[in-house]
Amino acid sequence: MRKFVVAILMVAVIATSVFAGGAADKASAVVPNNQKPVVFFNRQPSDPVTGVIDMEVMNWNDKTYYVGFDAAGGGAVQGQLIVDFLAGADPAVVDRNGDGIIGYVLCIGDVGHNDSKARTQGIREALGTWAGSTDPGIAQEGSAVVGGVEMKVVELDSRAMTGTDGTTWNANAATDAMMNWATRLGDQIDMVISNNDGMAMGCLQASNYPEGVPIFGYDANADAIEAIGAGRLTGTVSQNVDAQATATLQVIRNLLDGLTGDAVVTAGITEPDQYGNKISAAVDYIPETKAVLAQNTGVNASNWTEYQAGSRDAGIKQTEAPTKRVLLTIYNSGDNFLSSSYIPALNYYAPLLNIDLTIVQGDGQNESSCTDKFTNVNSYDAFAINMVKTNSGWDYLDKLQY
Ligand code: BGC
Ligand code: CA
Repeated sequence: MRKFVVAILMVAVIATSVFAGGAADKASAVVPNNQKPVVFFNRQPSDPVTGVIDMEVMNWNDKTYYVGFDAAGGGAVQGQLIVDFLAGADPAVVDRNGDGIIGYVLCIGDVGHNDSKARTQGIREALGTWAGSTDPGIAQEGSAVVGGVEMKVVELDSRAMTGTDGTTWNANAATDAMMNWATRLGDQIDMVISNNDGMAMGCLQASNYPEGVPIFGYDANADAIEAIGAGRLTGTVSQNVDAQATATLQVIRNLLDGLTGDAVVTAGITEPDQYGNKISAAVDYIPETKAVLAQNTGVNASNWTEYQAGSRDAGIKQTEAPTKRVLLTIYNSGDNFLSSSYIPALNYYAPLLNIDLTIVQGDGQNESSCTDKFTNVNSYDAFAINMVKTNSGWDYLDKLQY
């Protein structure tokens, strides 16, 4: 079926290019879409149930890559941040009802998303509550050292945080859940843990949020960093959005500049590129999954000022690279991390790399809200894709078949 559709589309495209004479865009008129660079970012092509990376999608062509961050490493960083906090805390203060148990509630985010799964696992492993599953509610009794005293740890409740409209990582759902938890569980709650800052800030919005209860997020969004400074949020993890946004554009830049082999994932990333640019933060390349991954760092009251908004990577400067057109999709215009951290970074670095970026955004529920805007593909030199569902890669690639 796919081949049949392709054949028809090929006829259509040949006809169009004959009549248009390649006027829309000279560069791309000669390059078939299926030979253009495709970089997936933030949502890794994978099975939403098992989390296994979809290498069929990743091997779509030799110019297909993923740019994200070290999800498993990040889960471990988040777990360690919480364990370190407990180690330095006073048991008499943290254990609010004095029952000798540290009770926590968990905001999961998106049960079908690799990053979300890795964080749930990292937190549960660190607290000993890991029972072999990243699903809500599947946790065992754990333990942690609190100010030198070993205490039991219990996951009181955990929820996916799907909005009433079906969107994932939903901050309003977290506010509602927190209201419910605070009413139902009262002073059994000693800690609130969230797999992203959007939901953590959502919890803090609950009118009955138990004052002073430690709360952890993930992403190091600007408002979360300020909340750490103000003593409202206890900690978060930076997934190094500047490195990711730059790397997404840089891999595309390298491919369009004709680089091949290792240079595609090292030039401007771990080594200076031909324009003298290089990302300052640590970035790894995983050849088995064609993944370029930024590293994570824990953020708390001791170092939050280093993560305040406005600090951009000085290693990336204005280049004279030839201008290229890139179409980039965002799965949900309402996603806190993408809209408040990732897109501003993209908009900062794209002009420096001379990438003319067109960003289209979806509703976070239906893939078609993105794919409907994934059009006029002939007039772009490359594509950057952030899917609604991690197994929707073909919905985009099918549009690039010829
Ligand atoms: C971020 C979340 C965000 C999600 C979107 C994750 O890496 O931590 O905050 O909602 O990506 O795909
Ligand atoms: Ca307790």
